[in-house]
Amino acid sequence: MGRLFRWFSRPLLALQDSEKAHARSLLMLRIASSNALFRGCLRLLYKPKKSLPTSCFGMEYSHPFGIAAGMDKKAEALRGWSSIGLAFSEIGGVTMLEQTGNAKPRMFRHGSDRALVNRMGFNNPGSEKIVQQLQRSGSQPIPVWANLGKSKLTPIEDAEMDYSTTMHRLWPYVDVFVINVSSPNTPGLRDLQHGDHLKGILEACIDVNRTNSEGSNASPKPLLIKVAPDLSKQELEAIVDTAIACEIDGIVATNTTIERPNQTHKVYNEQGGCSGSPLKHQSTEMIHHIYSYTGGRLPIVGVGGIMNAEDAWEKILAGASLLQAYAGFVFEGPGLTKSIVNGLHKKLKESGFESISEAVGASHRVPE
Ligand SMILES: Cc1cc2nc3c(=O)[nH]c(=O)nc-3n(C[C@H](O)[C@H](O)[C@H](O)COP(=O)(O)O)c2cc1C
Repeated sequence: MGRLFRWFSRPLLALQDSEKAHARSLLMLRIASSNALFRGCLRLLYKPKKSLPTSCFGMEYSHPFGIAAGMDKKAEALRGWSSIGLAFSEIGGVTMLEQTGNAKPRMFRHGSDRALVNRMGFNNPGSEKIVQQLQRSGSQPIPVWANLGKSKLTPIEDAEMDYSTTMHRLWPYVDVFVINVSSPNTPGLRDLQHGDHLKGILEACIDVNRTNSEGSNASPKPLLIKVAPDLSKQELEAIVDTAIACEIDGIVATNTTIERPNQTHKVYNEQGGCSGSPLKHQSTEMIHHIYSYTGGRLPIVGVGGIMNAEDAWEKILAGASLLQAYAGFVFEGPGLTKSIVNGLHKKLKESGFESISEAVGASHRVPE
């Protein structure tokens, strides 16, 4: 199936504008997952036969691989993600207010480098419409995460109100929340990663979490922070310190980078965040550093340049408990999950580890 995608669909998609190709693929997935018979066909084609059960944030996952934020900004293909075998999905970035994002074109592909550059700018229907969409979709067979961003119109000093309002609205429908302070495409957003700004946002979200859980007699939902790959070690450590002090549940590493590979191509001249293969090592390095700095006490979700099982395994050994991809699906197609899960299965067997959680962070441990 992967070969079929590489030979036929990929060349066809390459001829289309990146954002239009993405919208068409999502529409196809939405239609294909809208009825039980088609969902069965998708499962047959793409769902991994093997499972790699793992638990994280107090939840069970059939394997560690999910869809990254930005892929399903409007939560429109929720049934599709489980049908093609993903273990969890992340919707959004959702902002409090509806917004159209930056002017088009704003998403660019570099096929031979397997790289994307985007400056979407949080185009999304806003928290109120997303709630309606989640209500229409009903309960899902896999955990649904939500990525929260700040509305462009909201001034930086009101960021905590923006994030916490979105969280409050989405709370009953979402299993895990990711505070995204690392998108390079909203002016000033990355400044929120630091000092009092971050603490203020986290405290406001923790408050909303507590109120909602008490009000509904349910447990609080896991709350994660997503960081940029362009932070210095000191900046990253300061964020991790704040996360631990606020009892945040985990870190998503990483968002897209503002750096570019050392070569010229018109795609790399575009403004925005770069993802895919050129991001792989930078993001794995961040995972390494967070894991060693915390002694593995803070679960890490690894994302950035995962194109195959080898890349996924590298991030697990570096310290990632769960994994996500965006660019990998663009360049490898919907068969990516199956090939990664099968490949990880093989890696586990070869390495002698009993489970994924045993392998997490193994590159930090000296063999006896
Ligand atoms: C078009 C596009 C839109 C994205 N939108 C978001 C977003 O809204 N929120 C977020 O946290 N990350 C967003 N991302 C970043 C991805 O979730 C991911 O962190 C990044 O692409 C690195 O993973 P990859 O190399 O597998 O693509 C977006 C990425 C792309 C390519």
